[in-house]
Parts: sequence; C-alpha cells; structure tokens
Amino acid sequence: MKKITFAAFIAFCASIITLLAVDALTPASHAGEANDELPVFTLAEVAEHDTLDSCWMAIRGKVYDFTDYIPEHPTPPAIMEAWCGREATEGMETKGYGRDHTPAAWAMMEPYLIGILAEE
Ligand code: HEM
Repeated sequence: MKKITFAAFIAFCASIITLLAVDALTPASHAGEANDELPVFTLAEVAEHDTLDSCWMAIRGKVYDFTDYIPEHPTPPAIMEAWCGREATEGMETKGYGRDHTPAAWAMMEPYLIGILAEE
C-alpha cells in the first residue's frame, strides 16, 4: 500500500512540474510581459522611418513597422505613406476622413509591433 501511495505522490509531483513547464514555455500566457521587454523608441527615431522602404508609426503609445503591410492595405500606398514616421493615432482613428478603422483592422496591427513609444 505504501508503494502505491509513493507512486501516486511521484505522479502528482510530475504532473505539477509538467504544468509549470508548459506554462513557462507558452508565449501566449506571457503576452502581457512581452511588452515590457520591447525596446523604447523616441518620436525622433520613429521619424527616421518615414518612407515606403521603411515605414514606422507611433499609435496609442506603441511603435509599429508597417513596411511589409503597406502593399496589403486596401488603398494606394500614398494613403498610409502620409503617416510614416509620425504619431499616427489620428490616421488610424480617422482613416483621413473621420471614420475609425474596424476592430478587425486594429487587431491586424499586432504582428507589426516593434516597440514602445518613449514618454516625452
Ligand atoms: C495610419 C494610417 C492609415 C490610414 C490613413 C488608413 C486609411 C484607410 C482608408 C482610407 C481605408 C479605405 C476606406 C475605408 O475602408 O473606409 C482603409 C481601410 C482599411 N485599413 Fe487602413 N489606414 C491606415 C492604417 C492602417 C493599418 C495600420 C492597418 C492594419 C494593420 C489598416 C487596415 C485597414 C483595413 C483592414 C481596412 C479595411 C476597412 C476596415 O477594416 O476599416 N489600416 N484604411
């Protein structure tokens, strides 16, 4: 009987260790922390990337590199290009004519996140 209790105890410990390991190795469970590790950029640094060859934007306190996204955007590139290298929250919230992007569009920004905007 003691052996069974001991085996059950070992199995219990192993499952706890497995759960901890899975949690530690799952990036999604630490998504919030990942932001803290992103580099911080000033608006001056963002401003160096103001062309279609390298287009960074600061939106709601975060910095994005949209260079690879611009060819996918459903307008001629010039529409987004006007906001490259700038604080572009207004561009995102108004599309240039007063109407906000859809939640789906906002959700599409995440893969292009490269940093946090420095507080001036
Ligand atoms: C910040 C500068 C930007 C400007 C000025 C801008 C402007 C526009 C305009 C004029 C349209 C087409 C007209 C319309 O649908 O009402 C549009 C549509 C769209 N844009 Fe942008 N856009 C910008 C950035 C972005 C970014 C960063 C993303 C995503 C990564 C994005 C995703 C979309 C999507 C998915 C649509 C389709 C309609 C919607 O979902 O709202 N745009 N945008």
